Amino acid sequence: MTDPAGTAADGLPGVARLRSHQWFGGGGLRAFSHRARTRQLGYLPEEHLGKPVIAVLNTWSDVNPCHIHLRERAQAVKRGVWQAGGFPLEFPVATLSETFQKPTPMLYRNLLAMETEELLRSYPVDGAVLMGGCDKSTPALLMGAASAGLPAVFVPAGPMLPGHWRRGVLGSGTDMWKYWDERRAGLIGDAELAELENGLARSPGTCMTMGTAATLTAAAETLGVTVPGASSIPAVDSGHARMAAASGRLSVDLVRRDLRLPAILSREAYEDAVAAVLALGGSTNAVIHLIAMAGRSGVRLTLDDFDRIARTVPVLADLRPGGRYLMEDFHFAGGLPGFLTRIRDVLHLDRPTVAHPTLREQLADALVHDSAVIRPRDRPLAAEGGVAVLRGNLCPDGAVIKHIAAEPRLLRHTGPAVVFPDYRTMQRTIDDPSLGITPDHVLVLQNAGPRGGPGMPEYGMLPLPRHLLEQGVRDMVRISDARMSGTSYGACVLHIAPESYIGGPLALVRSGDPITLDVAARTLRLEIPDAELARRRAAWTPPPERYERGYGALYNEQITQADTGCDFAFLARGGDTPDPYAG
Ligand code: FES
Ligand code: MG
Repeated sequence: MTDPAGTAADGLPGVARLRSHQWFGGGGLRAFSHRARTRQLGYLPEEHLGKPVIAVLNTWSDVNPCHIHLRERAQAVKRGVWQAGGFPLEFPVATLSETFQKPTPMLYRNLLAMETEELLRSYPVDGAVLMGGCDKSTPALLMGAASAGLPAVFVPAGPMLPGHWRRGVLGSGTDMWKYWDERRAGLIGDAELAELENGLARSPGTCMTMGTAATLTAAAETLGVTVPGASSIPAVDSGHARMAAASGRLSVDLVRRDLRLPAILSREAYEDAVAAVLALGGSTNAVIHLIAMAGRSGVRLTLDDFDRIARTVPVLADLRPGGRYLMEDFHFAGGLPGFLTRIRDVLHLDRPTVAHPTLREQLADALVHDSAVIRPRDRPLAAEGGVAVLRGNLCPDGAVIKHIAAEPRLLRHTGPAVVFPDYRTMQRTIDDPSLGITPDHVLVLQNAGPRGGPGMPEYGMLPLPRHLLEQGVRDMVRISDARMSGTSYGACVLHIAPESYIGGPLALVRSGDPITLDVAARTLRLEIPDAELARRRAAWTPPPERYERGYGALYNEQITQADTGCDFAFLARGGDTPDPYAG
């Protein structure tokens, strides 16, 4: 960046190159005003002038249990920024609490991405530290920062401690679903439920299974935008504060080296992130988020990339919901650096990260300490990556299934559909014995996609009918245009595109229609004649729009389908945004 006034106020080398110098440098009225207002903030000139300004974007909130420690952790980030000769400014940004925000934080991912981009652009900022981790906050922060194009380091919130109940270990999400099914089957009483309520989530931090949070923070580390090893450090471990301080120091260093996010977020980096996510047996949500993040980086990532890469990597992390262990076990088994050594052959080792000139150097000292948690290549959990991409007349633009978390007998299955037109109807009627649902039926949920949900809620793991649970049935084929929590499991076909709400073929399914799922062949088919489908399509009428005004109306107008990442069209498209002239 050049100094519009053409002078460097304090004569320090490189100062005039700082973006923030446009605000503070030179002899004009504006710079005088900006300096006076920084005195008002309580800082002496020598505390900030000529120093890289680091925006610390903090998603802390009283309502977000996964980020409740980030208020304190921001102090460690600032400590690191100061140590390295930078000047930190903390920005409180929107919090996306997976637990509390309705209808789903997915509705607001793009809002946080916009906030991130515009704050970084409109304030005197040279670089950023992005603090997040609860599910959508990771892609949101990185999408916005990628569009802003500044140097940035991501600080993952870190997983919470393992849950406990009596003598057993509990995984957040995963064991909640499991014990709720046990409760519905009549096997868990009120007293046990109260104990579970106390034991499921026992510290600050993100879900400690390989759910969406752990998947996306691992993807961020693989992309190369974190301190190495950051993503699995437990939220309350003192190592987490040390990592936060190191991230602050690194952010200043990145500004000095002018190493910006776009130089890190290459096609190679995204392919590596896809490989890591698939080999981790990670969340299906990563498919949508990585496609959207790549789009902001000018990289066209597609569902076909996921399917292609899935065939090159086995699943090696024995983590719930697909496996046995939790994130703390993964951390002490070597964490992501150790894990990446297991798939070194498919990675692009010559690309840069924020911490090292090449990924090769970053992984040079990495080791796996526990081959039960991080399996060797010759003892994988599954021979192929954890997510399969399906095509067929029911999902012309694709669908996904996390087949490693399903009962294998269902991976090739034909059965009659039981159609629920929306989530509320499904909730109200799923236990109704008169529906005559058998274990062979295929449960179909409509209108739960990006526009229909709205926000593509995590409805995709449809509950099983109570009478089948009582008979011991624990999995069935379920299909929808919804997403599924990364901590969920089952033979659930998700992200069907185009969605039913805009007239995708899923809208045309009727109860009794045979549906065939064949994961090995990567197909999902509605077994009715084309002519009948065409007749139903001609008779289909679009439902009314969900929102008449406000953010929801903007969302409706701009949201793209799951196969292209559910970004807003006006944010995803290319083109330049001018930097504000601050002088
Ligand atoms: Fe926040 Fe799971 S609810 S990470
Ligand atoms: Mg989740």
